[in-house]
Amino acid sequence: MKIAAFAFAIPALVAADIQFSRSVTKIADDSDFQLKFDNGCSSSDDYGSNDCTFAWGDEISGSAGGSLGHDLEEGSTFSVDVKIDKFVSWKFSCAACGSNCTTTIPVVNQDVNFAMPDCPIPATDVPATVFDQALPADSPVPVKVTVTGTVGVKDAAGDDVLAMSIDATVQ
Ligand SMILES: *[C@@H]1O[C@H](CO)[C@@H](O)[C@H](O)[C@H]1NC(C)=O
Repeated sequence: MKIAAFAFAIPALVAADIQFSRSVTKIADDSDFQLKFDNGCSSSDDYGSNDCTFAWGDEISGSAGGSLGHDLEEGSTFSVDVKIDKFVSWKFSCAACGSNCTTTIPVVNQDVNFAMPDCPIPATDVPATVFDQALPADSPVPVKVTVTGTVGVKDAAGDDVLAMSIDATVQ
């Protein structure tokens, strides 16, 4: 269904610069999130706006909020398993808290190393917060790039906190 919607949107992509859709496949019973954009998206679900198209330089506004129903203890993980331009695999799993996450971005062969928050990440409620932000005027990447795959967070017991599939094009 998502794929059909994406294929249907392709004619509009000629003028589009950033396009993404996502599908939440799992979320913990005690947790939730919502990300809404005021413009640029053609559908929505329990988690907010979806099937969005933005142009570089656009002003993007909306609101974001959510809740994490239980602490994320040491041993929780954050994982990415995507294909770049359909063929190049970028797959890694990192501690969601308590240590650095290191990975190499394929294609550009760029190493990244960033600190994750301390453990535990406490259960929290983040009320919907309004944002309003201009995108950079030009694409940071010189070519068209597609990213498709899954991202997710699991707690220390190995249970899904959030899992989603994403489908994005940047050009
Ligand atoms: C962890 O990442 C931070 C940047 O967020 C960096 O300054 C630090 O050197 C890294 N630590 C290790 C052990 O790689």
